[in-house]
Amino acid sequence: MRKSRGRDDASSSETVEALYRIREVDGQDEDIADTLADLHRLTFFGGAPIPAFDAGCWWLAYRNAIPVAFAGIVPSTLVRNAGYICRVGVLKQHRGRRLQLRLMRALASRARRNGWTWLVSDTTQNVASANNFIRSGYRLHQPQYPWAYSDTLYWRKFIGPVTSLHGTYPKRL
Ligand SMILES: CC(C)(COP(=O)(O)OP(=O)(O)OC[C@H]1O[C@@H](n2cnc3c(N)ncnc32)[C@H](O)[C@@H]1OP(=O)(O)O)[C@@H](O)C(=O)NCCC(=O)NCCS
Repeated sequence: MRKSRGRDDASSSETVEALYRIREVDGQDEDIADTLADLHRLTFFGGAPIPAFDAGCWWLAYRNAIPVAFAGIVPSTLVRNAGYICRVGVLKQHRGRRLQLRLMRALASRARRNGWTWLVSDTTQNVASANNFIRSGYRLHQPQYPWAYSDTLYWRKFIGPVTSLHGTYPKRL
C-alpha cells in the first residue's frame, strides 16, 4: 500500500514537473522585457520596483508556451563575486508547484557558469519564499551592512568550485 502510494506521488510530481518548461531568456529583447514586466506586475502588484531587465540574467517558466513565472539574478553590488537573486514571481494560479525552487536551480547553474562563488538574496515576511531558500540549501546570515528592513532575512549559498577532487584531509572510510 505504502509502496504504491510512493510511486504515485513520484509519478505525479514528475507529471507536474513536465507541465512546466524553464528557459533562460534574453532580457534585452523588447518582447521578453515586456513579458517579464507583465509577470512582475501580476506577482508583485507594485510591492517592488520593476527592475531593469536588460541587466543580469532572466528566466521564464512556461505552461503550454504561456509564461507563468519568472526569476532574475544580477551581480551583487555588496558581496564580492556573488549573484543576487533579485526577483522570483509565480502567477497565483500556478503556485504550489515548486516553480520557485526550479527557477532557483536554473539560476544557480548559470551563476556557477558565471564563475560566481556565492548566491545571496533576502526575503521579508515571506514564508513561502523563505521555505524555498531552505529547501535549496541556503543559510541565513547577517550581512555587515544590512540593505533592507529590520525584519528582512538574508540568505546565502556557497556555489563555488570544489578546489580539489581529493580534498585536503585523508578520508576515514
Ligand atoms: C513566493 C513564490 C514565488 C512561491 O511560489 P511557488 O513556486 O509556487 O512556491 P511553492 O510551490 O513552494 O508553494 C509555496 C507554498 O504555497 C502552497 N500552495 C499550494 N497551492 C497554492 C496556491 N494555489 N497558491 C498559493 N500557495 C499555494 C504550497 O503548498 C507551498 O506550501 P509548503 O511550502 O508548505 O508546501 C510565490 O508565492 C510568489 O510569486 N509570490 C509573490 C512574489 C514574491 O513574493 N516573490 C518572492 C519575493 S522574496
